[in-house]
Amino acid sequence: MSEKRVIVAIDGPAGAGKSTLAKRVAEKLGFVYINTGAIYRAVALWALRLGVALNDMHRLEQLAKEARVAFGPPDERVFLNGEDVTDAIREVRVSEAASKVSAVPGVRRALLALQRGMAEKSSVVMEGRDIGTVVFPHAQVKIFLDADPRERARRRALELRQDGKPLDDLTLASELTRRDERDRQRKEAPLVQAPDAELVDSTGLSLEEVEQAVLRLVRSRISNGKAAAS
Ligand code: DC
Repeated sequence: MSEKRVIVAIDGPAGAGKSTLAKRVAEKLGFVYINTGAIYRAVALWALRLGVALNDMHRLEQLAKEARVAFGPPDERVFLNGEDVTDAIREVRVSEAASKVSAVPGVRRALLALQRGMAEKSSVVMEGRDIGTVVFPHAQVKIFLDADPRERARRRALELRQDGKPLDDLTLASELTRRDERDRQRKEAPLVQAPDAELVDSTGLSLEEVEQAVLRLVRSRISNGKAAAS
């Protein structure tokens, strides 16, 4: 058995708790945590700032090719062309724009190599919508994290309140539903559970319970930092 980088892919809809979970699992395993939604958000933010129409596929593809998106210390900050955009990309208008921008095939193509490159040097926990299906179809561990839509809206509301950007429940629920439908129905790399992904429904489970379930799964697939034969 050769020593190999391990890829833990966590996909699922918005508000399922992917980021919190992926971050904690990465920390426990000593892997690098990568939030791919932040990459699409950074490109969307750039498009909004430049006033690029969100249906201008050609310009959006160009932006995705030119954008320098990087994660860096401290605390997994997100940088776009050298600027720290960690807070700016969390705005609701950016969520909506990211979902639109990510449906453009050329944008997805442009960002694929970037995402794959981020896992070249170390084992990673990578979260998004198409990690187990498109970015790393051979990931050793694939999780599809889901939760009841009402629970997902409740968690998002809490997150936004903590960020000091509260949103009323109705607006939030409709934003999540619209975004999920778009992410699930797009032609290119739609949000779908990979056939070999483990479904984890986090409704009614504490973060600790979900984390333990995922860690058990990861450990059953790898041993001593070496990937088990897959
Ligand atoms: O994970 P998030 O909610 O921050 O992602 C924002 C948007 O980016 C999401 O609505 C769809 C898109 N996205 C994607 O298409 N593929 C990914 N791997 C990650 C995010």
